[in-house]
Amino acid sequence: MAEFTLPKNSKISQGKMIRCSEECTNSRMFHIYRYDPEKDDNPSLDSFELNMDNCGPMILDAVLKIKAELDSSLSLRRSCREGICGSCAMNINGQNTLACTRAINDYSADIYIYPLPHQPVIKDLVSDLSHFYAQHAAIEPWMKTDSTVSSDQERLQSVTERGKLDGLYECVMCACCSTSCPSYWWNSDRYLGPAALLTAYRWISDSRDEATGERLDELEDPFKLYRCHTIMNCTDVCPKDLNPAKAIAEIKKLMVKRKI
Ligand code: SF4
Ligand code: F3S
Ligand code: FES
Repeated sequence: MAEFTLPKNSKISQGKMIRCSEECTNSRMFHIYRYDPEKDDNPSLDSFELNMDNCGPMILDAVLKIKAELDSSLSLRRSCREGICGSCAMNINGQNTLACTRAINDYSADIYIYPLPHQPVIKDLVSDLSHFYAQHAAIEPWMKTDSTVSSDQERLQSVTERGKLDGLYECVMCACCSTSCPSYWWNSDRYLGPAALLTAYRWISDSRDEATGERLDELEDPFKLYRCHTIMNCTDVCPKDLNPAKAIAEIKKLMVKRKI
C-alpha cells in the first residue's frame, strides 16, 4: 500500500510519543487517534513505536499489543478477530476496514489509525453507531409473510432463489461502507446509507418474503434511497467484498420497473 501521511492542514495535535527500548531492532510506528469527550477539549494523535517481536500479523494484533504493553487506557471494540462480528472497524491509513483482517505487512511505512469517520466518538477508536443501528432496524430486517404454513412445514427455496441472496446476507454491519460515503456524511439523518440499503435489498430479494411492495413503498423517498449518487466508496471499502452500490442500483431499477 502507498505510504500515508496526515494532510498538512490537519488540526489534530501530537499527543504522547512512546519509543521502543534501544535494544529493539524490530519495530513499527503506529499513530493512534485519542479522544475522551469527558476529559479532552480536542483529540490528539499518540505515537507508539511497537516492538514487533511476538506480535501477531494483523493490525488488530498490534493495537491490542499496544493496549496490553504500552497504554491500557486505549479504547477500541473487537470480539471475533475473524472478520465476522464487524466490531473492529476503524480507519487505517485513510481507509475504513476491519483491523482483524488487515495485515500489518500490507503497509510499508507508519500506520495511522482513526475511528470510523463522521460518527460521534465515545472514546478513542470507539464510535457511537446508535444511529447506524437504528437505520438498520428501520428497514425491518426480518421475513414478513401474510400466508400461513403449518408448524411442520418449512418455507422452501429453490437453489436459484437461494443463490439470489449470495453477496447480500454476508454483511457484518461493520459500517465501513456507510461511513465512507460522502452522501451519508452530509445526510445521514435522512439517507439510509449503503449498509441499510444492502440489507433492505437482501429482504426484497428473498423469495419467501411477501412484503416487497411495502418495502419499496418505504424506500420511495428523495432522501432514504435517492441520496445515493453512485460515488462507489462503499463498494471499494467493504471488507467482506460485498457490493452495496449494486444493491442500491437494483432497488432503483425495481422502483422504475413497478411504475411501467
Ligand atoms: Fe460492512 Fe460491507 Fe456490510 Fe457495509 S456492506 S456494513 S462494509 S460488511
Ligand atoms: Fe455512497 Fe456508495 Fe452511493 S459511496 S453515494 S452509497 S454508491
Ligand atoms: Fe470481529 Fe474484527 S474483531 S470483525
